[in-house]
Amino acid sequence: MKTLIVLLLFISIAFHVRAQDAKMDTFINTLMGKMTVDEKIGQLNLTTAGAFVTGSAVNDKLQQKLKSGQIGGMLNGFSVPSMKAFQDIAVKESPNHIPLLFGMDVIHGYKTIFPIPLAMSCLWDMTLVEKSARIAAQEATANGISWTYSPMVDIARDPRWGRIAEGAGEDPWLGSQIAKALVKGYQGNDLSLNNTMMACVKHFALYGAAEAGRDYNTVDMSRVTMYNDYLPPYKAAFDAGAGSAMTSFNVVDGVPATGNHWLLTELLRNQWGFKGFVVTDYTATNEMINHGLGDLQTVSALALKAGTDMDMVGEGFLTTLKKSMDEGKVNIKDIDLACKRVLEAKYKLGLFDDPYRYMNEERAKTDVMTPENLKAAREIAERSMVLLKNDKQILPLKKSGTIAVIGPLGNSKGDMLGTWAMGGDQSNVTSVMDGIKNAAGSSVKVLYAKGSDFTDNLQLAKSVNAFARPGQPQASEPVKTSEQLLNEAIQTAKQADVIVAVLGEPAAWSGEASSMTDIGIQKVQQALLKGLLATGKPVVLVLINGRPLTLPWENENVSAILEAWAGGTEAGNAVADILFGDFNPSGKLTTTFPLNVGQIPIYYNHKNTGRPMSANNKFSSKYLDSPSEPLFPFGYGLSYSNFDYSDIKLSKTQLKGNEKLMATVTLTNTGKVAGEEVVLLYIQDPAASISRPVKELKNFKKVMLQPGEKKEVNIEVTTSDLMFYNSDLKYDWEAGDFVIYIGTNSRDVKSAKVNWVK
Ligand code: BGC
Repeated sequence: MKTLIVLLLFISIAFHVRAQDAKMDTFINTLMGKMTVDEKIGQLNLTTAGAFVTGSAVNDKLQQKLKSGQIGGMLNGFSVPSMKAFQDIAVKESPNHIPLLFGMDVIHGYKTIFPIPLAMSCLWDMTLVEKSARIAAQEATANGISWTYSPMVDIARDPRWGRIAEGAGEDPWLGSQIAKALVKGYQGNDLSLNNTMMACVKHFALYGAAEAGRDYNTVDMSRVTMYNDYLPPYKAAFDAGAGSAMTSFNVVDGVPATGNHWLLTELLRNQWGFKGFVVTDYTATNEMINHGLGDLQTVSALALKAGTDMDMVGEGFLTTLKKSMDEGKVNIKDIDLACKRVLEAKYKLGLFDDPYRYMNEERAKTDVMTPENLKAAREIAERSMVLLKNDKQILPLKKSGTIAVIGPLGNSKGDMLGTWAMGGDQSNVTSVMDGIKNAAGSSVKVLYAKGSDFTDNLQLAKSVNAFARPGQPQASEPVKTSEQLLNEAIQTAKQADVIVAVLGEPAAWSGEASSMTDIGIQKVQQALLKGLLATGKPVVLVLINGRPLTLPWENENVSAILEAWAGGTEAGNAVADILFGDFNPSGKLTTTFPLNVGQIPIYYNHKNTGRPMSANNKFSSKYLDSPSEPLFPFGYGLSYSNFDYSDIKLSKTQLKGNEKLMATVTLTNTGKVAGEEVVLLYIQDPAASISRPVKELKNFKKVMLQPGEKKEVNIEVTTSDLMFYNSDLKYDWEAGDFVIYIGTNSRDVKSAKVNWVK
C-alpha cells in the first residue's frame, strides 16, 4: 500500500513537472516567434550595470541598447531604484518587453558577510553551509539580485593561487557535499519565490589547477585525474539542480573552456544531462583571441557552437553572431537554442510574471543584517576557525588583567570581509580588537598598537587597497617608520599580561588575480612577532588570511596559533569567543598547510608512487633539503578538549556485493571541557587497475562530548564509496582488499582491513 502511494505521488509529480515544462515551452516558443534575430542575440548579451568590474567592460550607450533589446542581463547592480530604472526600460520600451536578469557575485553573503568560502569549508557542517546560502539569497533577492555567481567549486591544491579562498579546498568528496548544500541554500525548492535565486556553478572547468598557482594560467591534466579529482564537485552541483554554469578562463585539453565543445556539450549536457544555461566568465570569449584561437568573430562563433549561451560583457556575441549567421558560420538553430535557455532561466525565476519580483525596497530594509542573520554569521565564523596550536594552554584567556592587541589586522574591519564581499559594508564589521572589548567588558583593559604595515615590499604594498569597500577610508601613506611602529608596539606589549598578535594578509591578497610566490608571514610582520616574543609575555597568534600559509617559524616559536581566516561581519566577535573559551573550536582544515612553498602542490590524497617517501632510503620520493610532510595536514584542527580514538571495529571483514560495512570507533573526551570532534573516515584501494590515492575522504561525523564522556561513532561504508573512474573512464568498484582509516585528521588515523568481492 505504502509503495503504491509513493508511486502515485511520484507519477503525479512527474505529470505536474511535465505540464509545467510544456507551459514554459509554449510561452517561450510563442515569444521567440515574435523576436528578430537581433533581439535573440540581444538576450545572449550580459552587460555590467557599472560597478566592481574585474576588467574593462563595453557598456556604452546602455540605454539605447536596453531600448532596442540588445541586453539580456546585467551584473553588479547595486541599488534597487537604479535596477528598477533599467528594468523599466527593458519591459516598457524594448520590442518584446523581455525582463532583464540581474546577477552578482554573492559568494559568502550579501550584506551580512560570512567567512570566505575556504573558511566555511572548515565547518564540516552542511546545515550551516546551506543556511549561509539561504541567508545570502534572502538578502540579495531583496535587493534586486536573482542570479548569483556561486558556488565556486574549483578543487585547488596550490595555495599560491589566490582564488583558493573562494572554494572548498582540496577534497573532491567534501567539495561535492558543500556544492550541493550551497545550491540548495540559494535555490530552495522553488526558484520562482521572491527569496530564492539561481545558482551559477563555476568555473567550469578545472580553473583551480592553473599551473604554478598563477591566475588564469594553463591547465593540463589527464582525464583520469579530471574525472576522479576535479569534476565531482561540479557534477554534484548540477545534480543538485543548479540552473546555470560559468565557463572558466583556462584551457581544457588545449581548448579554452568557453569554446570547448567536449566540455560544454558532450560532457555537461550529453553525459551529465544539464538543462540550464552557460554564461562565459568575464570577457572569456574575447580572451580566446589571446589564447590563439582566432579573431573575435571566430571565437564568438566557436563559443556559441561549443555550448556557451550568454556572453559576459565582451559583446563578442552581440557584435559578430549575426555576421557569422549570414556567412553560414553559425546557424539560427544555434542562436535559438542559446536564446531559449536564457529565456527559460528568466521564466523559472518568475520574471515574466513579475519583472520587479526581486526589487522590494521594503524588504531591502527589513530582510538584511537582521539579528538572526548576524547570529548565524557569528556562529558560522566561530565554527570555521581552526586552532592550530595551543601548547602551553595559553588559551583560553582569562577575562581579567591587560590584553595588548597588536598587528596590522588587529583593528582592521574591511579585511575581515575577505574577497568578493561586494555588498559588505566595513562599518558593520567587528574588528578583532572590538570583539575582544565586547567579550571582556570592563574587567579587562584592552590596549592596541598597529606594530607594522602589512609589508615592506613596495610593489606588494600597492595592492593592499585593491578593494574599495563601502565605508572604507582611503588608506593613507604610512606616516610612521617600521622602527617607530615596532617600538610603539613593544612599549604597549610590555604593559600587558598577554599579547594577541593579529597578523596575516589583507583581503586583497587573496581572491582573483592575487597569486603569490611567498605565502609566509611578511618580513615586517614577522619582525614584529619576534619583538613581541622577546618581551617574554605570552603571545597568541591570530591569523587573518585567505589561503594556507607557510608557518614553520611561527609554529616553532609561538605557543598558541588560531587560524581565523577572513571571518566576515562578525569576525571579531567570533575570534573573541574562541580566545576566551566561550566557544570551543571545532574547525578543521580542508587544505594542506605546506611547510614551505617548494612542497607545492601538496595534498593529502596523493598517489603512493613506486618509491614512497622513506627516511632511510635516499632513492625515495622526497626532498633533500626539506621534510616532505606538510606542516598541518588536511583535516587538522585542535580543540580545548582532548579526544581519544579507540581502534576501529568492523561489522565484517569479508563482504560481498552490495552488503554494507559498519566501521566503529569509541571516542572519549579526555579533556576538561565539553567539545565537538569531527571524526573523519577515509578509504584506500591498495590494489586496483590504476594507481589510487593513499587515502580518500568518504565520510565524517561531528560528535559532541562532555568531559569524560565516551561515545561509539558508527560510520557506514557502501560500495559507492569504493567507486572510481578507471582508465576507460568507467565508473565502478573493483573487488579486493580495502583499508579503512578513521581519525582526527588525514595523518593521525587508525586503520583496519576488509576484503570485498563482487
Ligand atoms: C570572475 C568570476 C566572476 C565574474 C563576474 C570574473 O572575473 O572570474 O568568478 O563571477 O568576474 O564578476
